[in-house]
Amino acid sequence: MGTLTNKRILLGITGGIAAYKSADLARRLRDAGAEVRVVMTRTAQDFITPLTMQAVSGSPVHVEMVSAESKTGMEHIELARWADAVLVAPASADFLARLAQGRADDLLTALCLATSAPVAVAPAMNTQMWTNPATQANMLTLRRRAVHVFGPGEGDLACGEVGAGRLLEPVELVTLTAGLFATGELDGLTVLVTAGPTWEAIDPVRGITNKSSGKMGYAVAEAAAAAGAKVILVSGPTALPDPERMQIIRVTSTQEMHDAVHAHVREAHIFIGVAAVADYRPVESAPQKLKKGAERIMLDLVKNPDILASVAALERKPFTVGFAAETDNIEQNARQKLTEKRLDLVCANRVGDGLGFESDTNSLLLIDASGITELPAAAKDKLARALIHHISGKYHVAQERQQQAEGRA
Ligand code: C5P
Repeated sequence: MGTLTNKRILLGITGGIAAYKSADLARRLRDAGAEVRVVMTRTAQDFITPLTMQAVSGSPVHVEMVSAESKTGMEHIELARWADAVLVAPASADFLARLAQGRADDLLTALCLATSAPVAVAPAMNTQMWTNPATQANMLTLRRRAVHVFGPGEGDLACGEVGAGRLLEPVELVTLTAGLFATGELDGLTVLVTAGPTWEAIDPVRGITNKSSGKMGYAVAEAAAAAGAKVILVSGPTALPDPERMQIIRVTSTQEMHDAVHAHVREAHIFIGVAAVADYRPVESAPQKLKKGAERIMLDLVKNPDILASVAALERKPFTVGFAAETDNIEQNARQKLTEKRLDLVCANRVGDGLGFESDTNSLLLIDASGITELPAAAKDKLARALIHHISGKYHVAQERQQQAEGRA
């Protein structure tokens, strides 16, 4: 697998002769592991056909603002939410001008306005058009708005001139697109993550567990790996495949999760407890399947160790982050967890009514001693990236404070 594994790239194509390279680009993005959807402007279709792009991208091409296939009639919003990144290649002078003006007069400009994902443009045009002060002013506006600009390169142009304005080669564009996700914020650090439910056996076939799918914990582990960290993921039983680029330790019970965490916690700079851990386990697990009989039976339960609190209580504890899945009084309960478990940060989310555990989207309230930050509802992988960004900022601030304190001592 490549550097864009599981990333959803929305490839925008605008009208320019370099559009012929977009087919190769779509193919290479997919080779790097990305899922690709293509949006073409009207003029782009004069240079390359939607059918070609459909064949190489593996999904239908979008061209109309309102399409009969759209479930909601709001295709620009659906695509804007779907994308992890938008890459417009080639980006024509006209498209860049429309983007700089914030226009929404076709599907591509509208979704660029509507997305919260990073937007990158790869300009391609005649040298005079590129160096024209109007285009350069538009580029300045776009850069100030955090639009990523890939290229253009220099060389022979389709118009016969030589100079700046050449679309970067597809391989370079794939590398630069992957760079949008690799922040390097956690370079050199080790992050230990727990994820999924735990399973407390009652007998060989029955147990106590919960509805955690593991999706959020896995997304957090992947976001930490993408940010450059060495990641150790301790996972309870889930149906999810092992993520790439990390060490995975599969466990069943809370005690096993506890032991695995403590076997590795000394290496960790950051600990993130995302697992939905069973608070109690049967005092005994029956060696044989229990037989049906009495109308009422008692199950004797004993408290499990609190893994998160045990990590936070270590003398040399990592930066410790916990989750608080709450059905009510979210903020109050989360604050209590922050102080009682001596956490550095708590991430509170509402569960129940289809939210949280089994869903693909989530929202979070991040609470620490200095205040509250809200991460609005988003797909779990996007949310995880925003969370890792937040944790990384807090971790580095905490490190600086500690160094200053040690300097004073
Ligand atoms: O106390 P509560 O279970 O609500 O706290 C949730 C947080 O504590 C989560 O981060 C969860 O991973 C962690 N936890 C733990 N070990 C337990 C119970 C909860 O690590 N036994």
